[in-house]
Parts: sequence; structure tokens; C-alpha cells
Amino acid sequence: MKFQINNLSVITDGDKQSKPIIFIHGFPYDHTMWKKQINSFSDSYYCISYDIRGFGESSQFDGQHTMEMFVDDLEVIIEEMKLDKPVICGLSMGGYISLRALERFQNKFSAAILCDTRSQSDDNQGKLKRAAAIKRINSEGHKDFVKEFISNCFGDHFKQNFSEELKTIIEYSQSFSPTAIKGALLAMMGRTDTTAFLEKIEIPVLLICGQNDNLTPPSVMKEMYHKIKNAEFAEIENAGHLSPIENPEMVNSAISKFLKQIGY
Ligand code: MLT
Repeated sequence: MKFQINNLSVITDGDKQSKPIIFIHGFPYDHTMWKKQINSFSDSYYCISYDIRGFGESSQFDGQHTMEMFVDDLEVIIEEMKLDKPVICGLSMGGYISLRALERFQNKFSAAILCDTRSQSDDNQGKLKRAAAIKRINSEGHKDFVKEFISNCFGDHFKQNFSEELKTIIEYSQSFSPTAIKGALLAMMGRTDTTAFLEKIEIPVLLICGQNDNLTPPSVMKEMYHKIKNAEFAEIENAGHLSPIENPEMVNSAISKFLKQIGY
């Protein structure tokens, strides 16, 4: 089912009576990046995904975006849908949203799955890179930026063996508006650092990281893993920064094992 909440496009798969999992996509994608997980988990879980402001079919926004707004949107979806303590599952930018949401209201979740993400905010160099990207998009449009950014995210195994799929992903993301891309860059650039909060997480957390993730490498995610009380870590072979797309079998089996282990 597809409907609008707060002008956001929200998609549900599976039985409403089943336990909910809410999937939050990374940058610059939309909810479709989770299709290989949703296909697998919607038999047993109520899977909710949505397009973050500006992306996919949530397009009626002005691009003046902050991470707080992204988290507010998530909270509205949970409240309006009356979701009972969903598991939250976010990748990279979706992970930033998840971590800040946990910091603001972790009692609304049963557990968290953090894929290819980090708790640190952007350092000065990172902020300048985002600013340069916005300037570049203003002068030459967003298509080349999107192509280069996405190409840099995927690992060699996927690039070599699934080049057509990668091409489709790039073309699809190029169809998003520059307003969406710049809005998310602004939101990520201005996000707060959630590292100090990691030790205050009380719910179970699964951290998933592609073995060849250059953006949020396993060493960075292992540091998070050591700070969280009740955490599991899964390193995904033959995958870069988009592990759920690059090696869905291994990611799905890690998620499945985790959910079983926590009795969800
Ligand atoms: C993502 O995959 O969401 C991005 O790599 C996040 C970022 O640029 O920090």
C-alpha cells in the first residue's frame, strides 16, 4: 500500500498485524533501495518504507532541510501509523536519522539495525566537501555529481558483476530533483554528532557494514559496536557502502538471525 503522511510517500508491505520494521534509505536514493530486504521480510513482518523529503515521490519540498526535520518526519510517521515499537533500519543517511531518532526517543523502538553509517558528524573537510557539491550542482546541475557519488559508494564486486543494475540505480537517482540532493547535503552537513550517545543506547542494535565500504569502513563501525551495550556486528563480504543492495543474501541473513535472537 502507498499513501501520504506529512506530504511524504509512505509504502507498506506485509500484514499490518505483524511486527513492524521501518526502513530508512540512504543518500541519494529512495525507499526502493530496500526492495531486496522488503521482498524477503514482508512475509513475516509489516515493512514500512518511505521517501525522505525531496526524494522519490516525497517531492513537494523546498530543500531547506535539516536532520531534525528528517527525524520529525519519522516521528510523525510512527505516530500517525500508530506503530508499536518498530525495529528501525537505516542505511548511511538513514543511519544518521536513526541514531538521532534514538537519541530523541529510543523508547519508541524495539531495536535498531544500522547499516553502513557512522555516529560522527562531518568534520571541517567533510563540511567543505558538501559545500563544494552544492556549489557544483548550482553551476552544472546534479547529474554528474550523482553519478560520481554513487559510483564511489559501490564496491568493485558489484561494479564488475552488476554493471547494468548500477547503471539503472544511477539513472534513477539522477531523476531526483537538485533541490532534494542539495537539501539532504545541507541536512547531513549540519547534523549533530551522536557518538557520546552510543553508550546510552539501551535497545539491541545490529551494525552491518560492507567489507569494502570506503565511506563508513568496518573499522569505524566497529568503534560504534564497542560503545553500544547490546550490539551485534556483521561484516558483509563482496560489498561496499550499499551492502543491502550489493549482498542482500548475507545482509538478510544477518538481519534474520538478529531478529530471531532478540525474539522479535
Ligand atoms: C549515504 O549513503 O547516505 C551517504 O553516503 C551519506 C553521506 O554522504 O554522509
